[in-house]
Amino acid sequence: MELMDLESYNAREISDGVYWVGARDWNQRLFDALIPLPQGTTYNAYLVKGEQKTALVDTVRPGFEEELESRIGQVAELASLDYIVMNHAEPDHAGSIPHIMAKNESAVLVTTKKGAEMASVQYGVPAERTQVVKDGDTIPLGGKTLRFIEAPWLHWPETMFTYVEEDGVLFPCDFLGLHTAHGFYDDEVEELIPFAKRYFGEIMMPFRKMGVKALEKIDGLDVKIIAPSHGPVHRNPDRILSAYRQWVSGETKEKVIVVYVSMWNSTEAMIKTMVETLFSEGIEVNLFRLPDADIGDIARELVDSRGIVLGTPAVLGGMHPVALYATHLVKALRPPLKYGVVLSSHGWSGGAVKQAAEVLGPTKIEVLGAVDIKGPPGPDDEREIVELGKQLAAKIKQGGE
Ligand code: FEO
Repeated sequence: MELMDLESYNAREISDGVYWVGARDWNQRLFDALIPLPQGTTYNAYLVKGEQKTALVDTVRPGFEEELESRIGQVAELASLDYIVMNHAEPDHAGSIPHIMAKNESAVLVTTKKGAEMASVQYGVPAERTQVVKDGDTIPLGGKTLRFIEAPWLHWPETMFTYVEEDGVLFPCDFLGLHTAHGFYDDEVEELIPFAKRYFGEIMMPFRKMGVKALEKIDGLDVKIIAPSHGPVHRNPDRILSAYRQWVSGETKEKVIVVYVSMWNSTEAMIKTMVETLFSEGIEVNLFRLPDADIGDIARELVDSRGIVLGTPAVLGGMHPVALYATHLVKALRPPLKYGVVLSSHGWSGGAVKQAAEVLGPTKIEVLGAVDIKGPPGPDDEREIVELGKQLAAKIKQGGE
């Protein structure tokens, strides 16, 4: 081990009697077999020590149980834990509950009604070891009070937040988090907001309305520290809260995201003309060539882009499969996009534009037009793309909120 940040290997006190006891996963490069993690991630668990009782808030991904156990052991006896709070049932936070509950046979799992069902199915936690809490319920620990805040669908149905009233520490689990193994506090992470935005786009964007409700619920609290279950602890909570307020609002900017794939450069030539047109109209453009784009970066730009340009050649009567995958993701993430255009080239049969329209049909994206050509673009095709680009730019500038 290099002489680096040895503190990150120890439990750390983030507020009086409140400790980080989680795990740092430097090497994980893909989450849910889908989301790239360029800087790894953390699975943050916390220990809250009251005068009479002790609670563990969330656990860690399976494989890190011994790290969790070791860090708990630095500040409390594992056998002395009274409560294990499960804010969220996904295995990266709840997967070590069976391990902890086997080592401590008296601790009670505290979670929502839906969480209790999931803990039973996923982790075999029996009803007699589960305490169901609802919005506003509290558990006194002695000098510290845990308050539970139901915050469903962030991003699973059972999710809740836990708040330590006396210390103003909020544990929102996935919400307000980010994937990075760098830093311990928010001000130690250089790219905090871009990484948080990317994470928001990947995980929370489809649930913006629930995010608005959750932020309203915590508005009246005197939150001093936000301790999420991924990434750094926010000791400057306003920074992440104000970013989230903007992102959940669905407010868009004069930005267009361009995602494309090209096999023999014809679609790429069309994209170049479109991008030059948008640039000349003063529109911010973020361009992603799909086969080697990071979908986390695409998710980040979808958070506040107003328009999308999709470029795909036709392959066997439909979209290029890589473009189809990306279009499906765009649909599933439910970004606040307002307008779209499709550019496509084919060699001997079309079909890509038709399929793109089918996929995007149920979304709220207004497809302003498509250019579908055979082979590389000629002068007439270029003129058509420029016209469509100007039309898109005009719509983007109008706003469309
Ligand atoms: Fe970090 Fe939804 O688990």
